[in-house]
Amino acid sequence: MNKRPFLIDCDTGTDDAIAIMAALGSPQVEVRAVTSVNGNVSENYTSQNNLDLLEYLGRTDIPVAHGAVRPLLSGIVNDEGGTGTHGKTGLGTITLPHAQCSSFDCRIASELVYDLAVECAGDLELLVIGPMTNIAIALCNHRDLAGLIKHIWFMGGAAHGGNVSPTAEFNIWVDPEAAHIVFQSGIPMTMVGLDVTLKAVMTEEDVAQLRCKGSKAGTLAADLLDFMLQRRSKGGEDLVMHDALALAAALCPECLTCKDFFADVEHTGSYTAGHTFVDLRGVSGRAPNMSVALEVDPSLFRKWLVNAICSVPEK
Ligand code: BDR
Ligand code: CA
Repeated sequence: MNKRPFLIDCDTGTDDAIAIMAALGSPQVEVRAVTSVNGNVSENYTSQNNLDLLEYLGRTDIPVAHGAVRPLLSGIVNDEGGTGTHGKTGLGTITLPHAQCSSFDCRIASELVYDLAVECAGDLELLVIGPMTNIAIALCNHRDLAGLIKHIWFMGGAAHGGNVSPTAEFNIWVDPEAAHIVFQSGIPMTMVGLDVTLKAVMTEEDVAQLRCKGSKAGTLAADLLDFMLQRRSKGGEDLVMHDALALAAALCPECLTCKDFFADVEHTGSYTAGHTFVDLRGVSGRAPNMSVALEVDPSLFRKWLVNAICSVPEK
């Protein structure tokens, strides 16, 4: 089978870690690099989490790069580690062994994105599950990059509502200018927004199934989900798999109903900065520029996700 080359750009993050493991367990995917960005926690944590996670799972062959430590202009810098949602370091209460054998790629994220896109000659797909700063910088630095990326699958925005404000979702709100640049790039993309990801919720039965597998990935995923169960018991977010659902859009499209729309990012509004404008009724007169997820089949998604994590090879 010809594997699909993917670069994962992320702010790991409990649900980012689960999405990375799902990619590693998907036989049709070759994870070619993981790049890190400021977001759920500060970049020094997200990059260390990525390095530790890949080494823990025996994938020291995958380059991990540092990335943007702050947004382009008006967004949010996470200087001090995280809030309650992902714990202080991003991985809840889980401490992975500190990576011993691997070190960071010498390139910064935006350059690694470009180099890989050139190397893959038009076949590279991006899974973007954090703020879009690295991708926007890469696009600003390389005129030909947009034409070299096959597809961007991203978790961000919402056709309706938000989580950090009534109209904005976290990933877009952290760096609205970056998201605007990426939305306008002309790269084929699929938006998996908050209004759909909030329905992609794991159950205690899923946790038990993952733990029962007894593998490193299965156990780690179960531990991360246990943290989410504790979080939920304290009034926090449920076991929501925002980021893995963006991967499912690429690998298990039957899980989602998607439709093409024009979408852009509001980055100047005093009440609406970070809002994704999705022209659901076609009133803007603008041609569609992306596919937008509208509905999910939660049970199909959960089955796919458990199976992908249980298929991560033991190394
Ligand atoms: C997004 O923000 C983060 O908390 C998650 O990792 C996800 O990427 C959801 O708004
Ligand atoms: Ca994320």
